[in-house]
Amino acid sequence: MLQPAPFPASRPRRLRQAPWIRSMVAENVLTPADFIWPCFVIDGQDRAEPIASMPGVDRLTIDRLVAQAREARDLGIPAIAIFPYTDPAVKSPGAEEAWNPENLVCRATRAVKAAVPEIGVMLDVALDPYNSDGHDGIVQGNEIVNDETLIALEKQALAQAEAGCDILGPSDMMDGRIGVIRRALEAHDFQNVAIMSYAAKFASAFYGPFRDAVGSGGALKGDKKTYQMDPANTDEALREVAADLAEGADMVMVKPGMPYLDICQRVAAEFRVPTFAYQVSGEYAMLKGAMGNGWIDARIGTLEALMAFKRAGCSGVLTYFALDAARLLRE
Ligand code: PBG
Repeated sequence: MLQPAPFPASRPRRLRQAPWIRSMVAENVLTPADFIWPCFVIDGQDRAEPIASMPGVDRLTIDRLVAQAREARDLGIPAIAIFPYTDPAVKSPGAEEAWNPENLVCRATRAVKAAVPEIGVMLDVALDPYNSDGHDGIVQGNEIVNDETLIALEKQALAQAEAGCDILGPSDMMDGRIGVIRRALEAHDFQNVAIMSYAAKFASAFYGPFRDAVGSGGALKGDKKTYQMDPANTDEALREVAADLAEGADMVMVKPGMPYLDICQRVAAEFRVPTFAYQVSGEYAMLKGAMGNGWIDARIGTLEALMAFKRAGCSGVLTYFALDAARLLRE
C-alpha cells in the first residue's frame, strides 16, 4: 500500500473535521436496503407477545405482521424473514407440519405477499420449528440423518415456494441440500425462487434467544455440533460456500455475524457473490441488554454494529434492529 506523506504534510484529521467532509470520504454506506428483518409469527388475532430474552422483539399474529411488513416497506427495507412459533401439539419426529400448506409460515407468507407484494419474503428451510426433537434434521437413534432429512427439506421448500416465498434460506447445514432444493424448484416451475444459503453456519451459543422465540430450545436434545460448523474453522467455511454455490445457491450467508466478521470478509473477498451476515438473536440480546442499561449508546451503537458488516464486504445483514436502524438512518 502507498505510504502517506510524513507529518505534517499528511494530517489525517483534515478529513475528519466536519460531518460534510467525513461523509464525503466515507468508504462504506449503510442504508435500509442493507437490512433483512427477521420476525416471529404466532397464531391468533391482533396480538403481540414479548420475548423475554429479546427486549423490543415480539411474536406477532399474522395481521400485526402484515402491518409491520407495510412499515418495513415504507422504510425502504427490501425483505423480511418469517419464523414460526409452532404449537408443540403439531410437532412430530418426522416434522410433517413443515410441508403443511396451511402451516403458520405459509399462511403468513400468503398474507404478506397479498397485502405488501413489494416486499421480499424469505423463509428458513429447516425442520427445527416442527421437529419434536428440536433438531434441524430428522433424528434416528443418536443420529441426525442426512439423506432422509433431504427428502423432508425438499417437500418443505416446495410448500414454501407454493405459498409465495421469494427467497428460501436453507439453514439446516445438511450436506447436499442446496442441490436437492434447486432441482426441485426447477422441476416444479419455481425457477424464480432465490436461494440464500446459510452456507457457513456455526454451532453457536448465540442462538439461545432465537430458540426461546420459536419455542424449539426446550425440545432440543443434545447439541447441533454434528451438522453446524466448529467455531474453530475458517477454511471449512470457504469449502461450504463453494459447495453451495456449485449446487445452485444465489446468495450465501455467514452466521452468527459480529463474532464471525473474519469469515464474512474472507467469503465476500474470495467469492465475490452476494454475501450476507446474520446478526443473530444472542448478538441482539447482548447489545440490547447493554443499551437498555445505558452502557452502550443505543443510537450510535446500533448503526456502528451494522456498519461493521458493510466494511467486511457484506451486501446486507439480517438484523432484529432493522426497523429501528432504518428509522435512525431516516433522521
Ligand atoms: C434454525 C435457525 C436458527 C436460527 C435461524 N434459523 C437456530 C439454530 O440453528 O439453532 C438462529 C437465528 C438467531 O439466533 O437469531 N435452523
